This record gives sequence, C-alpha cells and structure tokens, in this order.
Amino acid sequence: MASLTVRQLDEALKQQLRLRAARNGRSVEDEVRNILRDAAAEMEAPPPARAGKGQAPPHRPEPPANRVLLIIAGGIAAYKALDLIRRLKERGIAVRCILTKAAEHFVTPLSAGALVGERVFTDLFDPKSEFDVGHIRLARETDLIVVAPATADLMAKLAGGHADDLATAALLATSAKVLLAPAMNPHMWANKATQRNVARLAADGFALVGPNEGEMAEAGERGRGRMAEPLEIAAAVEKLLGANRAQPLKGRRVLVTSGPTHEPIDPVRYIANRSSGKQGHAIAAAAAHAGADVTLVSGPVILPDPPGVKTVHVESARDMLAAVEASLPVDIGIFAAAVADWRVAGEARQKIKKSPGAATPELSLVENPDILSTIAHRKAQRPGLVIGFAAETENVIAHAREKLAKKGCDWILANDVSPETGIMGGDMNTIELVRATGIESWPPQSKEEVAAMLIDRIAQQLATE
Ligand code: CTP
Repeated sequence: MASLTVRQLDEALKQQLRLRAARNGRSVEDEVRNILRDAAAEMEAPPPARAGKGQAPPHRPEPPANRVLLIIAGGIAAYKALDLIRRLKERGIAVRCILTKAAEHFVTPLSAGALVGERVFTDLFDPKSEFDVGHIRLARETDLIVVAPATADLMAKLAGGHADDLATAALLATSAKVLLAPAMNPHMWANKATQRNVARLAADGFALVGPNEGEMAEAGERGRGRMAEPLEIAAAVEKLLGANRAQPLKGRRVLVTSGPTHEPIDPVRYIANRSSGKQGHAIAAAAAHAGADVTLVSGPVILPDPPGVKTVHVESARDMLAAVEASLPVDIGIFAAAVADWRVAGEARQKIKKSPGAATPELSLVENPDILSTIAHRKAQRPGLVIGFAAETENVIAHAREKLAKKGCDWILANDVSPETGIMGGDMNTIELVRATGIESWPPQSKEEVAAMLIDRIAQQLATE
C-alpha cells in the first residue's frame, strides 16, 4: 500500500483539520485517513445501494436551517457557554463563535472551536480573519446573535454604541435580533449603572434571558446574577428563531412519561431503578420544539423541567398512572418512564426501626399497574398513537415484539439496557423501532437525536393520516 504525503495545505485548512481531529478524538493523520475512506466508500456505493437489504435507510431530520452567532464574553459563566454550543447544535442550529479577549481567560478558542466545528473568531484586527470572514460578514451571516455570558462591561459598551473589539463591532453592525444572557455578581447586576444599561438595551429591542437567582461562583454569595442555564437559553433561542421553523406537531397534544418511579418502603426509604429521565425529557422537549402542546409526567429526576412543557412531578407508579389519566385526552402518548414493576405491600406509616435482637424486616411485593398497557387498552380516550419503550438485556427484538402485542401499543422503541451499553443513565442510545410494518434500526446517537428522530417519524405518520 503506497503511503501518501499531503503538502501545501493552507493554514486555514490545516486548522480545520486539527479541529475536526480534536473533535473526533483522532490524530490529524487518522482524521485524513477517515475522510479519504468515507470519500472512497461514497464513490463506490451511491446512497440507495448502501441501505440494508429490503430496509429503507434511517430518515435523518432536516439539515441545519438556522444560524446563531454566539459571543462569549469574559465571566466565570463562560464555561456554560460550551454546553450551550452543544445544546444549540443538538437542535440543528449552525453555530459560529466569537470569544472576547476576557473570555479567553475562561475558555480557549480550541475548546470552543472543537465544539462549534470551525475556528472561532477573536480579533477585530486580524488581517486574515478580516479578509476571510470579517466582522461585517459575521454580523450579517446569522439569524440571531446570542451573547452568553453578557457581562456588565459588554452591556455597558453595547448601550453606549462602542465598537472597539470584534464582539462589539459585530453587535453594532448586525441587523439580526440579539439575545443577551447576563451573568455577573448580584451587586453588579443591582448597580444603577447596569440597570440603566439593561433598560436602555431592552428599549432598543435587545432580548434578555435571565439572570437567575441562586448561588454565585464566589463562596457564600447568593442573589440575582447567575447566567440562565444552557437549556433555558436554548429555549429562548428557539423561540426567537421560531418564526423560521416548521412545526409539524402544531395543534397536537402529546403526553410523555419519564424517569423512574420511587416505591416507598416507609416514610424515608424507597425502591427505585437507575433511570435518569434523559430520554423521556428529551422527547418532551423535542415535541414542544415541534410545536406540540406537551404534558410531561415525570418521576423523581435531577433534570430541570424542559422549557415550554407542562411538567407534572410524581413519585410512585400509582401517582404516575393518576397523573397520566388526568392529562387525557391527548393525540399521542409516549411512555418512556422506567416504571417500577412492583411496590412494597403494606408500606409502613412510620420509619421502620432497628431494635436489638429483632429479625430483619421482610418486604413482600405486589405488582404495580402497567401504565402503558392501561392507556393502550382504554376504550375511551385512547390516544391515536401509543408509543412504548422496551428496556431489554437480551433478545431485544423478540421481547419488544411480545410487548407490542401484549401491551396493545402501536410502536415500541426497543433498547438494550445491559450495563455494558451504558444506555441506562447515559447520554447515548441505540434504538430499534418496532412497528407492525417492520423494524427500523437507528444508529447509536445522543438521546436528543433519538428524540428528534422519533418526532420526525411521528410527523411522517401524521402526514399520512
Ligand atoms: N411500563 C408502564 N408501566 C409499568 C411498566 C412498564 O407504563 N408498570 C411501560 C414503560 O414505560 C415502557 C414499557 O411499558 O414503555 C415497557 O417497559 P419495560 O420496563 O421494558 O417492560 P416491563 O413491562 O416492565 O416488562 P419486563 O420488566 O418484564 O421487561
């Protein structure tokens, strides 16, 4: 096999390759090999020939439609802006990024660039950058500018119309909407000068998200000044971009169950499972994003309530069933909760105490109601489309098929939750969509991507009705 040396790549291309390699955790050489391998595979096999035998290739959601220019200013909350990049990209938004000089003390252009997928912009007077993508192009080639964190200093400059660095120059040159996510010490936020600037900016048409109240990075400090969480900012971004977006579930009511249930033993102890609620919450968020009116019935999780979703918090399987029934009628029911199959018979009213010489307590279990099956078998108010999950550790498809029939649901999303897959509690999922018409194997992807793909399939189904 001949070896290949690639010379005369320009700096920009080399930089792109380095970023791409860093993002994929490979050496630059391996990255180049991969690019060549993919290109060769594409030449050999045109898309239709690559699908599995008799099986349509998984239909991916639409390519990115919206563009956001994210300006990261210098504050402790800058690290959260990295998560914001991920959240925006998960939503199919193309992100470009400017780092202010001060921001570079908190995050590096390399880490932001690896997440964005291209180099980040830092310098107003960088001749290469101005020739390549200058501040005017950055300001124009975007649908929305987001400043997160927006520091007191940056907002003061903005309110005064200054343009002495790349960030403020782009902000002054844009005709796009601007969303500010302020973050600062509570005293700085409460300061009259800051409040004057914020009022000026709001009057000038800048949109704001946060700041929130809570603990500050400085030990012992509390108050208003925390930057809004990345999910909140992403929701505000989606709202502002909403006018450009298709909403295939608009006017539909969707119910989602998520998380584990806790089955009490006594007032302080309970039986639970390892479900994190990440998949169910991502589905609720994706349905809301698609314009649906969403009710999420969630067991105890540490996740924030998805923005724009009505969330009902429950503890036990019986509470979950009651909350689900109370939210009917809906058009679509998606049952992603890992409901405990059993509860403890005769829950103790008081804490069970140890006493010397006494026998250890014996727990006897009784079966919980099957929420999915109860709803799918209802004569009245059965949702038009009932979707369940199958959490399996072996014979995934066979068990999923059995569940589809036994529980009376329309679709099952089956996944292998054996500990080695890392799916239960993790960020990734691999789904087999089991329907009466056949099975579709989805690639390993993030739980947000699974959610987007499911909403895409639901939209396709609704379009055929
Ligand atoms: N489910 C439910 N109520 C229950 C148990 C399960 O609504 N009491 C739903 C889950 O939300 C999921 C589907 O049923 O959509 C399958 O759950 P799973 O845990 O895979 O299966 P089980 O029915 O619990 O069966 P088994 O534990 O025997 O696999």
